[in-house]
Amino acid sequence: MATISPTRITPAAQAESGPVLSLSHITHDFDDVRAVDDVSLDVMPGEVVCLLGPSGCGKSTLLRLAAGLETLQAGEVRLQGRVVAQPGRRQTPPEQRNLGLMFQDSALFPHLKVVDNVTFGLDGVAPPKRRQRALEMLKKLGLDSYADSYPHLLSGGQQQRVALARALAPEPALMLLDEPFSALDARLRELTRDDTLHVLKNSGAGTLMVTHDPEEAMFMADRIALMRDGRIVQLGTPYDLYCHPVEPFVVRFFGEVNEVSAVVEDGEVRSAFGTVPAPEFADGTAVRMLIRPEAVSVRLVSETRAHQRSHVVVSRLLGRTSLLHLCVHTDNGGEFHGHSRMPGVFLPAPDQPVAMELDPSQVFIFPIP
Ligand SMILES: Nc1ncnc2c1ncn2[C@@H]1O[C@H](COP(=O)(O)OP(=O)(O)O)[C@@H](O)[C@H]1O
Ligand SMILES: [Mg+2]
Repeated sequence: MATISPTRITPAAQAESGPVLSLSHITHDFDDVRAVDDVSLDVMPGEVVCLLGPSGCGKSTLLRLAAGLETLQAGEVRLQGRVVAQPGRRQTPPEQRNLGLMFQDSALFPHLKVVDNVTFGLDGVAPPKRRQRALEMLKKLGLDSYADSYPHLLSGGQQQRVALARALAPEPALMLLDEPFSALDARLRELTRDDTLHVLKNSGAGTLMVTHDPEEAMFMADRIALMRDGRIVQLGTPYDLYCHPVEPFVVRFFGEVNEVSAVVEDGEVRSAFGTVPAPEFADGTAVRMLIRPEAVSVRLVSETRAHQRSHVVVSRLLGRTSLLHLCVHTDNGGEFHGHSRMPGVFLPAPDQPVAMELDPSQVFIFPIP
C-alpha cells in the first residue's frame, strides 16, 4: 500500500497559484444531442474534483474537452491560466497540455516491461534519469519489484497502478481520470483507489476524475460536481451534497430513500415514519419527504393483535448495518413498503410490531412544484 505523506501544495500556495484547470461556459453537441450544457468548473492544484452522474450525462465528454481529445464548440478551457481551447482558434493538442490521462482500460504496451511503460512518457527527461524516475514512481505505488516484468503477469489492479505511474511520471499539473477503477472487482477496486488517492494527493497535481459511483466520488473527492443531462446540478464537498442536497435528484443519487408526500402543519411534517420539524415552510405547503433508511430508527413493541401496526416483513444483515423491510401502516388504514437501516446486527423476526422515529438530519423536504 502506498505510504501517506503530506501534500506538497499548502492551501495558501493553492489560493495564490490559481486554478490548474478552468472550464468556462462549455457547451457541446453531438448532432442533435446536447452532451454538455453551459458547464463552468475550476480545479485547484492538489485538489481532487469528481464528475459524478448517471450514464450519458456528459461526464466523459467534459473530460475529453479538458484533455483536448474533442474539438471545443463553445466556451473556453484554460490550463494554469493559459487558454488552450477557444472556438475559432487552433487548440493546443493533448500532448502539449501538461496533463496525465488514465482510463478504465490501462492499455499498457504488452511488449514493453513495466518500467519501460512508465518511462514511455518521459521524453523530456535525460535517458539515464528516466529509469530512475520511473522506478521512484513505481516504488510509490508498491510496484518496484515488478519493474522488469511484462504487463500480462500483473493483476488488473496492478496494471491500473502502472498506468497511474505512467501518467504521473512526467509530473503533470493536471490529471484526468475516466472511470479508472470500473474494470476491477470490488476488493481490488478499494485497494487501488486508496493507493491512487494518496499518490495523487502527494503529487500536488490537480485531478478531475469521472465516476458514476457516488461512494467512489465521496471516497476520492475534495469536491463533487453532480451532473444530469449535461448540466451541473450541484457542486460542493461530499458533505454539502450528502447533507445539504439542493434537489430530490441529489438525495436519490446517493442511495435508495423512502418517499412520501405530506402537508406542512404547525411547522411540522407528519408521516407514518414519524414527524420532523419544517419551520422554513408555510403551513399548508404540499411537500415531498425523502427519508434515508438510516433516518428511520426502529423500536420493538408488543402488540397482541398481529398486523395492527407497522411491522417487520424481513430483516437482512448487510455487514455494518442491518436492513429492515417494513410494512408501514398509516393513520387511515393504508399500508406501504419502507426501509430502515439500523447499525450493527439488529434482526427482528417477521411480523414483529415496531414503532419508528426519524432523525431529521437524514430527512429532506422539498416543496411539490
Ligand atoms: N462520439 C459521440 N458521438 C455521438 N454521441 C456521443 C458521442 N460521445 C458521446 N455521445 C453522447 O453524448 C452524451 C454524453 O455522453 P458521455 O459524455 O459519454 O456521458 P457519460 O460519460 O456521462 O456516460 C450521451 O448522450 C452520448 O450518447
Ligand atoms: Mg463516460
